[in-house]
Parts: sequence; structure tokens; C-alpha cells
Amino acid sequence: VDSGRCVVAVDGPSGSGKSTVSRRLATALDAQYLDTGAMYRAVTWAVLQSGVEPHDSDAVAKVAGEVQLEIGTDPSAPHISVDGTAVDGPIRGPEVTGAVSAVAAVPWVRQLLVAQQRKLIAEAGRMVVEGRDIGTVVAPDADLKVYLTASADARARRRSAEDATDVAATAADLHRRDQLDSTRATDPLQQADDAVVLDTTGLGIDEVVSRLRALLDGRVQA
Ligand code: DC
Repeated sequence: VDSGRCVVAVDGPSGSGKSTVSRRLATALDAQYLDTGAMYRAVTWAVLQSGVEPHDSDAVAKVAGEVQLEIGTDPSAPHISVDGTAVDGPIRGPEVTGAVSAVAAVPWVRQLLVAQQRKLIAEAGRMVVEGRDIGTVVAPDADLKVYLTASADARARRRSAEDATDVAATAADLHRRDQLDSTRATDPLQQADDAVVLDTTGLGIDEVVSRLRALLDGRVQA
């Protein structure tokens, strides 16, 4: 897998290890990396910034249509900006995390971002793309579709270690977001029929990345 087009779709709930695994895999494949969650978070940041209530779908759609997102796809230096303002820090904060599921449920927001994501994938050619609907909606023709899972406990522990927050509070927040992301009407978190499901509960990052590379070697001609 050294050259040519190669698109890997990585979906799964928060805390399943998606981001770390996707970045590492992209680096190993000499591919670009797209964090679609960061795009939903950046729109959410703009929504909050403009004083719009995240459940006001029409107002949210309007903000989404007006902002200019710029997203870097280098796996060693991911970054995102909104109208020229870097928002890498603020999009990981509790305000954005608390509101992002509502914003990501607005069909027009999804339509806009999915179109941008497809364009970025087409331009890159080689890319590891992580999100919730990549294998099902954004890149149904991906060379490899992976669905990462982990026990609720493991996911809460990982997230709280990353965010330096309380495990119990993180577990409750993850449960709330999973529920919202899985049950929304438009493009919910879903496993593609042809996705390889990998439970990362007892696995280290290296192990997950090497299993995915082995799978790719079997699928994509160099
Ligand atoms: O992966 P993350 O936690 O940064 O994603 C933030 C939110 O964005 C998550 O609650 C669900 C939503 N999301 C989505 O709806 N579709 C995607 N492709 C990626 C993220």
C-alpha cells in the first residue's frame, strides 16, 4: 500500500480510540487525515459564538451556511479554523462538547459538511477519515471500513484521561452523546454492513494499527 488512491473509513463512538488510531494509521500509510468530528465541533463553536441556541435548527443551519471552515489534513499537525480564527482548543471544551450533538443532528449542517468532506477526500486521494457516518454516507466506496468499539468503561476511562475529567461524569456524558448520535434521524452513528468491527477494549494502539495495516495489505493493490 505505497501509492495511489486509498481511502480508509474509521467510524465508532467516542472513546473507541478512533482519533489516535486514525492519525497513526494515516502516518503509517503516508496518507492525509480528516477528523470530521472537528468540523461538526467547529460549526458548533460558531453557533455558540453567534449566540444562537443549538436546538434552533433554522438558525443553526444559517450559521453553518455562512462560516468558512479551513481544515488541515496533515496527521502530525491537525488544525481547524473558522473564518480565519484557529479553534483547535475551544472545540474540545465542555461548551462545544455539550452542544455538538444537537448541531450535528441538523440535516442541512450534515449536507454541507458531507459535501466538503467528499471534496477533501477526492483531492487527497489517500486519506484516513474518521467520524460516525464515513463508511455509510461520506465514503461508501472506501477501500477499508473499520468500526471501532470498546466497552463503555474503557471508553469513559480513555476520555477522562484525555480531558482530565472525572470518570463517572465522563461516562454519563458519553452515554448521553452516544444516545443522541445513534438515534438522530439523519445519518446516525451506524456500522456499515461491510465494515470490519474491532473491539479495542484490551488492545494497545500499536496492536490496532498493525491489525488495520494487515487488513489493508490484503485489500489494496500497491
Ligand atoms: O468524534 P467527536 O467526538 O469529535 O465528534 C463530535 C460530535 O460530532 C459527535 O457527538 C457526533 C458528531 N459527528 C457526527 O455526527 N458525524 C461525524 N461524521 C463526526 C462527528
